Amino acid sequence: MVSPNDTTPLSLWQRRLSRRQMISRGSEIVLISTLPSGYLLAQQSNPRVQLNFESVSPSSADKVVVPNGYRADIVISWGDPLFPGVVALDPHTVARGDLMLPSAARDQTGQFGYNCDGMGLFEVGEDEVVVCVNHEYPNPELLFPGYRTAQRAGMAADFIRQNPICVDYMKATIGVSIAHFQMGSTWNLKIDSPLNRRVTAETSMQLSGPASDHRFFKSSLDSSGISIRGTLWNCAAGRTPWGTYLTAEENVDEFFGNRRAATLSADVEQAHNRFRPRGGESRFRWEFADKRFDVALNPNEAFKFGWIVEIDPLNPSKPIKKRTALGRFKHEGATTTLTRDGRLAVYMGDDEAFEYLYKFITSEPFDPECPENNVDLLDSGILYVARFREDGRGEWEPMVWQQTSILSSQNGFESQADVVLRCREAADLVGATPMDRPEDIAVNPRTNKVYLACTRNSDRGEGEVESAGRRIQTDPVAPNPRAPNPWGHIIELSEDHDDGASVSFQWEIFLLAGDPAQGQFLTSLASNTEELNPDSTYFAGHQNSDELSAFGSPDNLTFDAAGNLWITTDGDQPKGNNDGCFVCPTEGDSRGGVRQFMSGPVGCEITGCELTPDEGGILLGIQHPGQGGTAEDSISSWPEGGDSAPQPSVVLVGPEDPRRKLTG
Ligand code: FEO
Ligand code: CA
Ligand code: CA
Repeated sequence: MVSPNDTTPLSLWQRRLSRRQMISRGSEIVLISTLPSGYLLAQQSNPRVQLNFESVSPSSADKVVVPNGYRADIVISWGDPLFPGVVALDPHTVARGDLMLPSAARDQTGQFGYNCDGMGLFEVGEDEVVVCVNHEYPNPELLFPGYRTAQRAGMAADFIRQNPICVDYMKATIGVSIAHFQMGSTWNLKIDSPLNRRVTAETSMQLSGPASDHRFFKSSLDSSGISIRGTLWNCAAGRTPWGTYLTAEENVDEFFGNRRAATLSADVEQAHNRFRPRGGESRFRWEFADKRFDVALNPNEAFKFGWIVEIDPLNPSKPIKKRTALGRFKHEGATTTLTRDGRLAVYMGDDEAFEYLYKFITSEPFDPECPENNVDLLDSGILYVARFREDGRGEWEPMVWQQTSILSSQNGFESQADVVLRCREAADLVGATPMDRPEDIAVNPRTNKVYLACTRNSDRGEGEVESAGRRIQTDPVAPNPRAPNPWGHIIELSEDHDDGASVSFQWEIFLLAGDPAQGQFLTSLASNTEELNPDSTYFAGHQNSDELSAFGSPDNLTFDAAGNLWITTDGDQPKGNNDGCFVCPTEGDSRGGVRQFMSGPVGCEITGCELTPDEGGILLGIQHPGQGGTAEDSISSWPEGGDSAPQPSVVLVGPEDPRRKLTG
């Protein structure tokens, strides 16, 4: 057990779970965690350690830029084989259309996927780690020459009809890769490991929890309603203390088309209304090659997506389960923490403008002694949604069928299955606060404070607008104070009694992102009497704008053991440069002191972000490098250069001196 006075820097789950043991059981490897009496190790007093790198400057170069004295190594790239005998992708052949050959789709099912997003690390020994990596969505214009030209001519559907193999390829690029590495000065994939795995848009999985037998899951393709094929738009992620990976299905509506041509029953139409498949062609036009993505032909297939999916990375024989108790919406991620009584709290953002922040709390506590008792913990519990008050207080509103008349047959909810399936509508009814696109969430291991990235919202302040199937008033409110909100913000939330099980909280704005050297730089929000404008910035009360890095569009978040918040960005940057990784102390004199740690290549967003077990480095995802170009006219050739297609990759960034850590 970790003693309260233990001052050794500890990895995330080491800090949270104390010591763990790995045992082998046949071909399975089982992670045994021993729960500290208070996983609330947050209170333990790690010494404050310093971030001692020189900030990097914003960059528009087609390369990964890291501070002097640091290195960035590619750990694995799109197309790298995960299994013996699988050929590697040759990125120099993309522009000539080789990914449209039937062999490419077959090969991709054995290769590391595309567009890396959320990750989870699972230690399987002193120097071995299994890394789960989400692959969010395909970029057909970067994969298939001619696609963008066809799209611009309004002929994308014809392109797919004529080249249905492209859909097979795209299905194989997304989902999750699970890869077993030997760590060291370089990381080496253990290609013979039975733990290496690909989960794609065609992998069999199950539904579980309150909605698992909902009538909507039955369809002409699946009369039983239990046959689930695949996972889609896997965005950010989370881990459970029992050693499983949580992958979040986000913009799954983008995969389904032809809704306007569908003849839907009233209840199906209502259920689609707040989480709508495309009325016309879907974003990737899969419906022209696979009818399960055509809403007119299969109105219910979309309901099988939009969930949190639990994968046991160390036990490949265990079924993959979509946990319906955690609600159906555009799941950004799933950040876990243990409550004081040992249950699991899962924080989840719904990433769309004016959507909500959720929390799920399991009914039963995590059992550190008996792993089998944790297998279906995520199937029962209470789902809450956040209501932020103007005065800095807030409540978690329970979304429990028939707890009040609001969530009952009076509003068409006939069961908890209806509540979780029509989650956004239920959240509307209980008074949730519409936020500026809730992205990732991280819990500070020193303080237990919860940090929520609201990435941006150009519609804030636009009066009453149509948004995700309902009319909504967009006036700025205290937790979303800028109108419009071009650069995003981060909220700091303190649960009452310092307990993730609390149903009320305090909150404050931690950062209003942007360029602190431009516009109105605020050192206090409480004493500010001026109206905020889109370029107003606030860095947690930091006084000196010269010491700060400009940033925008915060997306993924994580904490190191010292309580520094690591932020990766996706989208517009105030200086017009590439996306990057930033880090920010949350306590002490340097609180709010955001500094840029890394810049990515052209066209990418930065994802991950996961610290290595010893905090000697951070794993960052380079997602969609070259986005904005095409397969035949690329704007990035990272990392290979020359005529190579850009390759989404996972990079490990850390000090060149292996004795040094990221902090200290
Ligand atoms: Fe997939 Fe909200 O980023
Ligand atoms: Ca994200
Ligand atoms: Ca993103």
